[in-house]
Amino acid sequence: MRKNHPVRFDPQRNCWDVFLYNDVKRVLSDYESFSSQTSLEQFSIVSMDPPKHRLYRSIVSKAFTPKAVNDFAPRIHHITNELLDEVTGKGEMDMIADLAFPLPTIVIAELLGVPKEDREQFKQWSDEVVRGTDIANGETPEQLIKSQKQVTQEIFEYFTKVIENKRRNPRNDLISALLAAKVEEQSLSLTELLQFCFLLLVAGNETTTNLIGNAMVCFLNNPDIQKQLREDLTLLPGAIEEVLRYRSPIQSLIRVCVRDTELSGQTVQAGQPVIVWIGSANRDETIFEQANQYILRRSPNRHIAFGNGPHFCLGAPLARLESNIALRLVFEKLPFISPKKGIKPNPVKDMLIHGYKSIPI
Ligand code: HEM
Repeated sequence: MRKNHPVRFDPQRNCWDVFLYNDVKRVLSDYESFSSQTSLEQFSIVSMDPPKHRLYRSIVSKAFTPKAVNDFAPRIHHITNELLDEVTGKGEMDMIADLAFPLPTIVIAELLGVPKEDREQFKQWSDEVVRGTDIANGETPEQLIKSQKQVTQEIFEYFTKVIENKRRNPRNDLISALLAAKVEEQSLSLTELLQFCFLLLVAGNETTTNLIGNAMVCFLNNPDIQKQLREDLTLLPGAIEEVLRYRSPIQSLIRVCVRDTELSGQTVQAGQPVIVWIGSANRDETIFEQANQYILRRSPNRHIAFGNGPHFCLGAPLARLESNIALRLVFEKLPFISPKKGIKPNPVKDMLIHGYKSIPI
């Protein structure tokens, strides 16, 4: 596709697909031509355009600066240690169920200030909200939408109670900070508060789980890389950046064209949806040498796994910190790891997400 149809219109899906690195970056940064407002009923920052987007994003961005996030490092360390202690000595574990899934869910629950006992519920909710149609079981897109609406309703009811509680008893957490925040002198409405909670709950869970899982698969598939990392853990941050490029957890994003725009010789018309393929851009051979290889010491590595432009992932410092701590402790606490004999990692079957449901080791 990158070579022969880098920007193509698919009449069946009635949308454009964009595959090259520079075109994908352009679509994501040129919000005046390619809007994030793909549907009218959403109030979330992901579907706002500047200048409104800037106002709302600034409310949560303070909580996610590298400095603010680093203050959380000892907690992430502690939680990871506890999770690994539960499996130490058993001789086997599932990298997803025992570590990569619970870690980000507990962390975001603590940041938001909700009880960690609710985390299994959180996981079910976020899985449901981000999943694609279950074609194998005969599910139709309409059934999926119905089920997702119901879950969204449940999440909103849950957070409405939490918000009411925090209004009366503010604490040092993100929901209390959102309650105190003002946009143009106004407090956030309940709908806006709920949208923020919803976004933070779903945006960071599955993606970070998949980053940790995808890293594990890269290292298991390549014992030599694992060996080099174990010998020199200062290589780990770069190794994780290469996982983000090579196995990008989010494979694509959507925008809608709002004025006729030329893209690599094609004219995209106002009103047409545009799918940008991040996974493909991150393997663009004109940008990355040996793009289809996992290169441990790749430098520079200008991947766009966290997006580009005004919506660049707010949680990137947190995702990087969690995955670095998690994988460092795996290497330090588990002296030898290999795939469980006869059982392969079970991939998530979804065009938009790259990850694994289970990785038995
Ligand atoms: C936005 C990827 C982890 C919160 C994004 C976007 C991408 C992305 C590609 C851009 C969306 C767009 O342009 O439409 C990832 C990946 C992650 C990750 C690959 C993990 C490896 C997190 C975490 C959080 C988070 C841990 C927070 C807890 C957000 C938020 C936005 C966002 C709030 C919306 C920003 C905006 O619209 O201004 N993420 N993300 N993400 N991410 Fe992440």
